[in-house]
Amino acid sequence: MNLKEKIEELKAEINSSKLKGEEVLETFRIKFLGSKNILKGLYQELKSVPNEQKKDFGQLINSLKNLAEEKFEEGKKLNADKNQMGQSKIDHSRPAEKVELGARHPLAVIRNEIIEIFGRIGFSVSEGPEIEDDWHNFSALNFPPEHPARDMQDTFFIEKGEKEMALRTHTSSVQVRVMENEKPPIRTISPGRVYRNEAISARAHCFFHQVEGLYIDKNVSFADLKQTLLYFAQEMFGGSAEIRLRPSYFPFTEPSAEVDVSCTICKSEGCNVCKYTGWLEILGCGMVDPNVLESANIDPKVYSGFAFGMGVERIAQLKYRVGDLRLYSENDVRFLNQFKSAY
Ligand code: DAH
Repeated sequence: MNLKEKIEELKAEINSSKLKGEEVLETFRIKFLGSKNILKGLYQELKSVPNEQKKDFGQLINSLKNLAEEKFEEGKKLNADKNQMGQSKIDHSRPAEKVELGARHPLAVIRNEIIEIFGRIGFSVSEGPEIEDDWHNFSALNFPPEHPARDMQDTFFIEKGEKEMALRTHTSSVQVRVMENEKPPIRTISPGRVYRNEAISARAHCFFHQVEGLYIDKNVSFADLKQTLLYFAQEMFGGSAEIRLRPSYFPFTEPSAEVDVSCTICKSEGCNVCKYTGWLEILGCGMVDPNVLESANIDPKVYSGFAFGMGVERIAQLKYRVGDLRLYSENDVRFLNQFKSAY
């Protein structure tokens, strides 16, 4: 084979090379561009070519070298693109993507904790409807007919068939349902959502959550109520928590009290959350009014009981220091993800 034929053959080989894959590309590089490449042999042979043809052959070999270089660059680019698409470099040992776990809602975490704390001293869990009638939300709870809490401003009234119904304004309605359906002794808590016709702001919402508590038996005293609430406060906020009862009024309890817990944030030293009082209001409570027992056909001469009601958002606010009520219902995952370690 003479030099011209060899050049033609190599040219054809370069042109038809398919430089797919790192190995093929490297073989090509060694053959045509490496330190002992095949073109070097052609330059050797050029020496024995007659002088007048040397220039032409020299140019042919040079253009062959350029062709090989172009082809190599092209091959490099092709393989780089392929790698980017992950076609030729798959790492089979790479661990799979982690499955993202969801988080419990902070209000669910607090509600579950409340259920657990009262469960340990024998309280069961009971639930009632969110759409409630006047009897269970108001009348059986000793609200006089003209009581302002029934006012349109506080309560969402709705029509359900012939009957006027309301979205319950508190979970106290479940007390009545439990008393109607169960015989004492009764020890139960009722968690649930409640509704009030309020403008939404950082401090108020048209719906929020409460946990109601009810204990009915013979000889239940105010001391039992106080001790039960102290137990709760210390389980929820830590063993050094203290409580304080202030006289108050609710239609369904007599006597009634509002309960403060010592400020867990400043350790009662005074801060803007407790408004420099060292105390935080957490719930309302009292001895079940005899009228309420009678409404549910429980004899107030035989039985007595206590009741209490607390806001879940309020407890969550104190435990998690979340000041703005709206965050609890906005479903912002950046907010919710912060509770991933809670359960
Ligand atoms: N129902 C009251 C409210 O929504 C809270 C409450 C106060 C519940 C005293 C009770 C209680 O059971 O005894 O503000």
